[in-house]
Amino acid sequence: MTDLFQPTAGESAPIHSKDELVTLAESDRHRPRFHFVSPAGWLNDPNGVAQWDGTYHLFYQYNPDGPFHGNIKWGHASSTNLVNWHDEPIALEPSAGPDAEGCWSGVLVNDDGVPTLIYSGRHDGVELPCVAVGSPDLRTWSKAPENPVIAAPPPGVEVPAFRDHCVWKQDGMWRQLVGSGVQGQGGAAFLYESGDLRNWSYLGPLLVGEAASQDRDASDWQGTMWECVDLFRVGTRDILVFSAWNDEETLHPLYWIGTYTGDTFSPENLLRLDYGGRFFYAPQSFEDEAGRRVMFGWLQEGRGEAAVQASGWSGAMSLPRTAELVGSELSFAPVAEVANLRRDHQSIDARNLGTVEILDGVAGNQLDLELDLRLEPGATFRLGLLASVNSDGSAAEETMVSVTHDGLEAGTLRLDRSASSLDPDVDVEDKSGPVPLADGVLRLRVLVDHSALEIFANGKPLTARVYPSLDGEAIRLSATGAVQLRASDAWRMEGIFNHSRNLRP
Ligand code: FRU
Repeated sequence: MTDLFQPTAGESAPIHSKDELVTLAESDRHRPRFHFVSPAGWLNDPNGVAQWDGTYHLFYQYNPDGPFHGNIKWGHASSTNLVNWHDEPIALEPSAGPDAEGCWSGVLVNDDGVPTLIYSGRHDGVELPCVAVGSPDLRTWSKAPENPVIAAPPPGVEVPAFRDHCVWKQDGMWRQLVGSGVQGQGGAAFLYESGDLRNWSYLGPLLVGEAASQDRDASDWQGTMWECVDLFRVGTRDILVFSAWNDEETLHPLYWIGTYTGDTFSPENLLRLDYGGRFFYAPQSFEDEAGRRVMFGWLQEGRGEAAVQASGWSGAMSLPRTAELVGSELSFAPVAEVANLRRDHQSIDARNLGTVEILDGVAGNQLDLELDLRLEPGATFRLGLLASVNSDGSAAEETMVSVTHDGLEAGTLRLDRSASSLDPDVDVEDKSGPVPLADGVLRLRVLVDHSALEIFANGKPLTARVYPSLDGEAIRLSATGAVQLRASDAWRMEGIFNHSRNLRP
């Protein structure tokens, strides 16, 4: 008899057998092939990202019961190269007690050789910090009897929520940030200290935002709650990353550059982490053994709810990307190992661009493009992807990436998805943001993986989802004003899961 299951009451989804769910997910033409995805069902935030004894670990918010957020567990995968992933057994599952309603986001730390998870246990509709201790191979986890290890949010503060963790060791003591907010003021990160990861004392707010006095429609609105706070140092600067949230709405990831000293963070500048907004949400980072700051983010879906339920899966992980300080801002690039997946190299010849041309010999929906360009002030470069071109030269569907040189060594990166799909239910909101353009030189890296799109323009990322209905694979180039394409490269990308996967590895 097939094992049937369905979402808990109140959540609507069709009933699928477990096998059917995996088969459905794997046969979806919009499913990425070289980004990490869960075996089927639902995936959200990256959790516990780390390198442990040489091996990379990626845990994630997982619901194998279907493509909806419910009864959240920690999925787990490991890798030796950050691009090919091996499914590991589910690490955490809700059980009677403080995480009965979900094992929400958290981190992995090394407690004197003992792998230890700090996560948000959900119970009675609220989340509180919990701890679980792992076996040396990180495959089996036992929840600490002391859970929850912090009994309540700080006294005297009215908070919209209190969850997600950043934990590090400093001067022999553990420190922890919990994401939260102060009612009427803005999002916040609360700072705690502990000698043993079990007994925590509250030190105060590391930083409280100013959502109440900011423009709510701004692309850098700080939100009333900060999810998934992440504090780290890059070069000589301290960075505080958070995902701005308001009233059940996941808005966008932002970061502060500033100085962390004592028990506070003095912010200097607030910047957007990825111009795709909610399509690169809840990022988490770690320092790997080579000293790189490596970050993953959650690529939410951008198609209608019915299409998500019918597909059997929801949510992709970004490719791992490195963060470096360039000038006074972060600059991002996919980790070098992504190049391991490159196949069938194609050279693109240098030329001046003008009217629309179809790129000869380079097409596809699983691609890595590295374009080298030079734009005169006022010029615009356009790159059409996943295009279905009619006989009269118009495009029935096309996803349009463009960069305009605005003068003064700066430009604007844009993603126009208005013609990306004939499906009227997909998210086609415009995305854009500023990019540095010293001497008009633009290094554009574009990774197309079916519905997952990651763009890096001189280190500024824009991540989003697209769902072309016509399976177009053409690439079109054009320019307004003087745009020179220098010798460039393109590759087809190899898929990373070439076998059927188990819902519960
Ligand atoms: C962010 C988030 C976290 C929470 C988790 C639950 O996307 O809402 O704040 O811990 O997802 O799955």
